[in-house]
Amino acid sequence: MASLTACNSEVKEEKKFIEENTTFASAQTVKMLETTGEPNGKNFPRRINKEGKLSVTNKWDWTPGFFPGTLWYLYELTGDTVWQQEAEKWTWQMEEVQHFSAHHDIGFMMYCSYGNAERLASRPEYKDILVQSANSLCTRFSDTTQVIESWNYRKAWDGTEWFYPVIIDNMMNLELLFYASKVTGDPKYYDVAVTHANTTLKNHFREDYSSYHVVNYDETTGEALHRQTCQGYSDNSTWSRGQAWAIYGYTMSYRETKDPAYLEAAKNFAQYYIDHLPEDLVPLWDFNVGEEGYIPQGNSYAVQYPAKVKDASAAAITCSAFFELGEITQDPQYTDLAIRMLKSLASPAYRAPLGENANFIIMHCTGSLPHRSEIDSPLVYADYYFLEALIRYKRYLSTL
Ligand code: GLY
Repeated sequence: MASLTACNSEVKEEKKFIEENTTFASAQTVKMLETTGEPNGKNFPRRINKEGKLSVTNKWDWTPGFFPGTLWYLYELTGDTVWQQEAEKWTWQMEEVQHFSAHHDIGFMMYCSYGNAERLASRPEYKDILVQSANSLCTRFSDTTQVIESWNYRKAWDGTEWFYPVIIDNMMNLELLFYASKVTGDPKYYDVAVTHANTTLKNHFREDYSSYHVVNYDETTGEALHRQTCQGYSDNSTWSRGQAWAIYGYTMSYRETKDPAYLEAAKNFAQYYIDHLPEDLVPLWDFNVGEEGYIPQGNSYAVQYPAKVKDASAAAITCSAFFELGEITQDPQYTDLAIRMLKSLASPAYRAPLGENANFIIMHCTGSLPHRSEIDSPLVYADYYFLEALIRYKRYLSTL
């Protein structure tokens, strides 16, 4: 389907595709809710366990915001207030997280839950909670490094000590800061966000526009000391989900700032991703798995394991980002690719049968292969970005 010249019958067919996926996602999520029971702050769906059953987290993990976010997206797709009621219940379980500052993920945690709540069912409390969350995130920013610290001290696989590690994923947390400046009128959040994005642009990418996963900064001089990996194959490889976060993060940052450098960056990161895609448009968990010149980090597991596993979460994130990049640039290549990615994810190769996959929607994701964690598993954030992409596609079709 050529994205900008679709005729009426094609648009009708595509609307049916969205409806069918919405109906499926609703039915699958009803089953998920039967499994979780009522929310209690400790039962946020995250992945599948070794027995093929649902594995959950508490509210302090990096992923709890995605399930309330999924419920909000189902409300947005269906208009059914039953989803709104569920979404509200699950969102409120995270209220305490607004004060959390032990790592950078508060952006994911709170903007996917409360951010969607505020957007779809605005209440003054939501705004206050989001602004407090933005304040918590800003406590991790340093004027010296000019970036938000992602994790506290930890060691790389090779023993290198990271005193101020920043990961590419951190670009995603900036949306919370842009929001906070808009609603408070206080530019401080916006300034932190653009400073972080500018420093990351300088230090986190190679000449071919591929991304490093981790950059460790010297906290006293601000120098970028080490460029390594944690969840990728190799220090010099490109972790697929990291590249997806980069594409999404700079597309979103362009939307919020209109800085052409961010759009240029997003297009370049997208081109690297496109150039390395397999036929079904769902990448392996790392773009350089098993290639010559890339030494596996972590442990020998990455080489021993039949490492050609996919990461459908990277595909879902990029699919959603490409809908936005297509809208911003009006370049049909991004929208066409986004549609094809969505079709691939919605095909039986990646969309689970009803009642299977521990009631998650998308199969075949990889959390962190070097940690032997979440390999070829469903992951709650793949479902979240899949539904977001569906919403963006629906919106696109309504413009034709
Ligand atoms: N932000 C953590 C991950 O993508 O695994």
